[in-house]
Amino acid sequence: MKVAIIGQGYVGLTISAFTSEFYEVVGFDSNLKIVSQLNSGFSHIEGVDSRDLQRAIKAGRYKATANGEDISDVDVVVIAVPTPLTPDRKPDLAFIEAACKTIGENIRSSVLVINESTSFPGTLRNYIKPSIEKYSKDKIDHLYAISPERVDPGRGDFNQKNTPRIYSGLTTEASKLTRDFYSRFCDELVEVSSPEVAEAAKLFENTFRQVNIALVNEFAQIAHSLGINVYETLDAANTKPYGFMKFTPSAGVGGHCIPVDPTYLAAVAEEHGAPATFIRRANEVNLEMSKYVVGRVLADNGGTLEGKSILVIGVAYKPNVADIRETAAELVIEHLRARGAVVSWHDEVVGTWKGETSSPLAGAEIAVVVTKHDSVKEADVISSAPYVFDTTGKIKGVRGL
Ligand SMILES: NC(=O)c1ccc[n+]([C@@H]2O[C@H](COP(=O)([O-])OP(=O)(O)OC[C@H]3O[C@@H](n4cnc5c(N)ncnc54)[C@H](O)[C@@H]3O)[C@@H](O)[C@H]2O)c1
Repeated sequence: MKVAIIGQGYVGLTISAFTSEFYEVVGFDSNLKIVSQLNSGFSHIEGVDSRDLQRAIKAGRYKATANGEDISDVDVVVIAVPTPLTPDRKPDLAFIEAACKTIGENIRSSVLVINESTSFPGTLRNYIKPSIEKYSKDKIDHLYAISPERVDPGRGDFNQKNTPRIYSGLTTEASKLTRDFYSRFCDELVEVSSPEVAEAAKLFENTFRQVNIALVNEFAQIAHSLGINVYETLDAANTKPYGFMKFTPSAGVGGHCIPVDPTYLAAVAEEHGAPATFIRRANEVNLEMSKYVVGRVLADNGGTLEGKSILVIGVAYKPNVADIRETAAELVIEHLRARGAVVSWHDEVVGTWKGETSSPLAGAEIAVVVTKHDSVKEADVISSAPYVFDTTGKIKGVRGL
């Protein structure tokens, strides 16, 4: 079986690596640099080992391409392209539309199209299917299914094999073929009654995280105002063996999922006249955390940051990945600079970002830890500045949330 995977980013390349064990995979990406890197055997995604990629290329089981014709004869197409927000924070299906164009224009016979990109309920039925049909000159009748991706990049304990996969086809045949496709490499498949349920479940999973993170971020502020240690309080609450799940405070949420997906749910809810008050407020609380963190640093430093050299430690949105999408570090840096601070950042996992490069982990007047990668030593953080503010709860003996 030959499989085309549209988009070779965090999701697409991860799924390519797994499927190429069983199928011949064509990884289609519109970014020529990524295509060329992948074909030379270099993986740009944490969790996908370059040596595995090289083995698959050598065995003729994987190749990357930006040429639509290379996907013309596949049996299955998986869509794994970005689903971001527009500048006015509305769902942006432009990448999905472009992927549908590639599929519609190039696929020559009926295939199974599976969407793994996250989007609102109805995307498969009302956008993807009509869009592919619009671009298909020969008006080919494809089979359509959804199986929202749940990968957590950089995570070792849960992967494509042992993370249960939700799926549903637009027809019984599409559901059956989707099950056959994933059952080669995924241990547990959960069929739901419609694609809309699968799409909504994915959005609700990430909304659950977003709202709980906002709640704990608000609680961190309450605990500080009461003179209570938030981490000790959370650990105490977490001794309850049922009905509680521990989330930890932070400078905000980042990545392509938690700050984005709930807004997809809120947008579709409001379109249908349903309230999305928790989702909207949670988003605000999480975005405001960066300002709160800077306010705490300011208060501890005599009420002014003017001219002070401040090192932000960790700009990736989470530990051990180079992903800077929607990172809270960006807002923290913006607020610090607005206060007149001279800000540099240290993050050797990210390396370069927005035209700036990672600075040494030393020599600042103030350090603010936003993300702590495992490779960063606690002692080096502590000695990087006379005043250290930690938003991660991982550095002992310094100021923090
Ligand atoms: N990153 C995650 O942890 C994660 C987890 C679960 C689900 N998702 C969802 O999966 C989808 C993909 O996210 P990602 O993190 O892999 O994004 P990504 O930015 O890492 O990768 C997307 C890739 O698609 C390529 N691309 C864009 N438009 C294209 C087109 N028209 N044709 C071919 N390639 C195109 C880009 O060049 C890029 O390489 C999103 O809907 C996201 O919400 C992401």
